[in-house]
Amino acid sequence: MTKIIAVISGKGGVGKTTLVSNMAAALSKAGKHVLIIDGNVSGPNLTAHLGIPETHPITLNEVIKNEAYILHAIYQHPLGFKVIPASMAELQAELGGLEKHLARLIGVYDVILIDSAPGVNDEVRAAIEASDEVVVVTTPEVPAVQNAKMAVDFARTLGKSIAGVIINMQRNERHELKPEEIERMLETRVLGVVKEHSKVREAISKAIPVYALDPYIRPSREIRRIAHLLLEESPPKESLRERIISLLKAEIHINIR
Ligand SMILES: Nc1ncnc2c1ncn2[C@@H]1O[C@H](COP(=O)(O)OP(=O)(O)OP(=O)(O)O)[C@@H](O)[C@H]1O
Ligand SMILES: [Mg+2]
Repeated sequence: MTKIIAVISGKGGVGKTTLVSNMAAALSKAGKHVLIIDGNVSGPNLTAHLGIPETHPITLNEVIKNEAYILHAIYQHPLGFKVIPASMAELQAELGGLEKHLARLIGVYDVILIDSAPGVNDEVRAAIEASDEVVVVTTPEVPAVQNAKMAVDFARTLGKSIAGVIINMQRNERHELKPEEIERMLETRVLGVVKEHSKVREAISKAIPVYALDPYIRPSREIRRIAHLLLEESPPKESLRERIISLLKAEIHINIR
C-alpha cells in the first residue's frame, strides 16, 4: 500500500527539502519505490536540491490546473526515485485538488513524500489534505518549535495524524531545546535528530542528496533510519566495513569541531 506523507514545518528553511530528498535517496537505495513531490509551489526548490533542470516541460502546476496527466509530470532521478517538480515560473499557483490527482498513483509507490511549503496556509492545507500522515520538521530553537506547534495543530484540525517530528540542524549547543522538551511542546514523538553538518550544505551546493555524497556521516545515517521508521521498518543491516567507516567518520567530525 502506498503511504503518502506530507513534510511540513512552521518556520521556513528548517530542512524539509533536504530531508525529503535524502529520505528518497536512502529508501530508493534500499529498493523502495519512492515518489517525491514539490508541494512548495510558492517557493519550489526540490529541483535545485536534486540537479533537475528547471525547464521541466510538465510540472505539478499543469497537473493541478488539469492541463496535464500526473503520470506525465513524473521525472526519473538518476538515484532511482521519481520526482514531480513544481514550476519556477508561476509562484502564485494553487495546490488545491492535489489529493484527487494522487489517487491515481496509489499502489504504484511504497511511499510518496510531499515537500510542503512552510507555515499555515492554503498551500500547506492542500499538501496535508493529500496525505495520510504528516511529519513536522523543526530546528531545536524556541521560535521554530513554537511555529511547528502551529503547523502540528493545523494538521490535527484537518484530521491528520502526526507521524512525529524531525529535529534538524542540531548543534548540541546549551541553549538548544532538548528532544524531550520538543516532544512535550508538540505533543508528538521525536522520530530522529539530524545533526548540523557542513557536508549537508556541500551536497546541496553540488545538487545531490548528502546521502549519495556520503552515506556514512551521521546525518545520512540518521535520515536513513528515520525514513525506514516512517515505513515502520528497520533500515537494512550494515556490513562490518560500513559500520567501521561510519564510526571513523563520526570520530573525525567530533575532533575537527
Ligand atoms: N542537517 C543540516 N546541516 C547543515 N545544514 C543544513 C542541514 N539541513 C539543512 N541545512 C541548511 O539549511 C538550508 C535550508 O534547508 P531546506 O531548503 O531543506 O529547508 P526548507 O525547510 O525546505 O526551506 P523552505 O521552507 O524555504 O522550503 C539548506 O540550504 C542548508 O544550507
Ligand atoms: Mg523547501
